[in-house]
Amino acid sequence: MRLQKFMAHAGAASRRKCEEFIKEGLVKVNDEVVTELGTKVDPNVDRVYLNGKRLRLENKNVYIMLNKPIGVVTTASDEKDRETVVDYVPNDYRVYPVGRLDIDTTGLVLLTNDGELANILMHPKHEIGKTYIVTVEGTPNSHELSLLREGLDIRDLRTSPANVKILKSFKQDSIIEIEIFEGQNHQVKRMFDYIGHKVKKLKRISMGKLQLNDLLPGNYRYLTEEEIKYLKGLK
Ligand code: URA
Repeated sequence: MRLQKFMAHAGAASRRKCEEFIKEGLVKVNDEVVTELGTKVDPNVDRVYLNGKRLRLENKNVYIMLNKPIGVVTTASDEKDRETVVDYVPNDYRVYPVGRLDIDTTGLVLLTNDGELANILMHPKHEIGKTYIVTVEGTPNSHELSLLREGLDIRDLRTSPANVKILKSFKQDSIIEIEIFEGQNHQVKRMFDYIGHKVKKLKRISMGKLQLNDLLPGNYRYLTEEEIKYLKGLK
C-alpha cells in the first residue's frame, strides 16, 4: 500500500495533505525519514510515524462471504500467479480465507481479517457442519450411504458421522447433499472415492448457519451483524 494511502486510511489527513507531509520530511517509516511519494508500506510490518506519532490503520474487522468460482485458488497469494479468492473481494483490510476449497470446487468461502475468529472456526473442537451438494458417478446404495453416516476410518482420514441424503438419481450419476464436521484435505472427494463413487462436481452451500443461498459464483457479500454474532458465539 502506498504511504500516502496508508496515512489517509489511518486518519492522518487527506491523501493530498499527507503527500505534503511526506515531502516536508515529517514522515518516518520504521526509523527512516521518507520523502519519496511512491514509497510502499506493509501495514502488518512497517511502522509509520507523522511528527513522531505512530499512525495505525483503523482496527476494523471485516467478514465476507464469497461464492468461489471454479479455477480460483483459496489462498491469499499464489506462487503460480493463479486467481485467488482475495482477487474477488475488496481488500483494503487484508482479509484472507478461512479454510480451503479445492480449485475445482465452488461455493461458500468465508474471508476475514479477524485472526481470532478464523482460529475458532478452524479448530477441530468446534466441528461446525459444512454442507455440500455433490454430483457423483452412479448412485450409492444404502450400505454405502450407511458407511458415510457411521463415519469412516480411511488411513489418515477419520470422519465423524455425516448427514447424507440423495437429492436426485439419474442413470449415470446422482446429486447428493452431505454435511461433514471436519475440514480435511479433499475430504468429500475421498469419502465418496472410498465408497466407490467418484465426485464429478462439488459445491459448498453452508457453514453452520451461514447459507450461500442465491449468491452467484464470483459474487460476495458482507456478513450481517447477526451472522457475525453467531460465529463469535461459537467460542
Ligand atoms: N472436500 C473436498 O474434497 N474438496 C473441497 O473442496 C471441499 C471438501
